[in-house]
Amino acid sequence: MAFRNLLSADHGGVRRIIINRPDKLNALNREIIGELHIAFDQARHDDSVRVVVLAGSGEKAFVAGADITELAAATPQQAQQFSRAGQQMMLNIERLGKPVIARIQGFALGGGMELAMCCHLRIASEKAKFGQPEINLGVTPGFGGTQRLLRLAGRGAALELCLTGTPIDAARALALGVVTRVVAAEKLDEEVDALAAQLANSAPHALAGILNAIVLGGESNIDVGLDYETQAFALCCATADMREGTSAFLERRKPSFNGN
Ligand code: COA
Repeated sequence: MAFRNLLSADHGGVRRIIINRPDKLNALNREIIGELHIAFDQARHDDSVRVVVLAGSGEKAFVAGADITELAAATPQQAQQFSRAGQQMMLNIERLGKPVIARIQGFALGGGMELAMCCHLRIASEKAKFGQPEINLGVTPGFGGTQRLLRLAGRGAALELCLTGTPIDAARALALGVVTRVVAAEKLDEEVDALAAQLANSAPHALAGILNAIVLGGESNIDVGLDYETQAFALCCATADMREGTSAFLERRKPSFNGN
């Protein structure tokens, strides 16, 4: 399916999905939220896709938030639908069962920070800026920001960022655990591509098991979380990739995982 606001390209098991609205700093309107939902459903069902990289087009922004023009005209009912649609789209990413890397080159504000936080790994340029500035518009975050920031960075930082709306730089985001890695702007693609390639060459059933245990188990009590882990671990032992990985270790060679 062709998208009006997204670009997509596949290479070596990695699907790159790019939000392509640079004149509005890739702000998320209803249409983009719908397209992202479909694009990630397609990535889920395509066995050739092992990893997704999510990026924004242009140099200035990953995503500068929800579309304020749409927000300004929203009734409470429309705002409720918009919030739920954004939350569902981001849950769909978080629960994809395949690793998703956010490539963050500039502003990741409001819905942009929320979108980055539902990805599993975040590689940021040292020039990136993060924040939940919704308070300055007289609203709360609406796409999961209060909940994911709380879980990633803790209550103190979540309250500070959401209550003040003050942006933070990449170094502070790294210190808070909001990003995985910060790199020089000119190294961003190299680092993202290397990480994506590493994951694309890993055993996909094991990756899915780790994602399930950490993402879903993390929302449950420890008994349920440990059960996710045990089920995933046992399931991996039914795969050819597990035989390959253990044999390769014993034979002192590099494993080659084929996804079976
Ligand atoms: N929604 C809709 N349009 C947005 C947008 C958003 N969240 N963020 C930026 N844009 C648009 C601007 O209106 C402008 O459009 P125009 O050229 O047609 O006037 C264009 O993108 C470029 O943005 P501009 O503000 O001119 O760039 P800047 O470099 O001066 O400032 C930001 C960059 C990110 C600091 C500023 O755009 C901003 O504060 N954006 C809103 C951030 C926000 O509050 N996000 C949470 C939304 S809930």
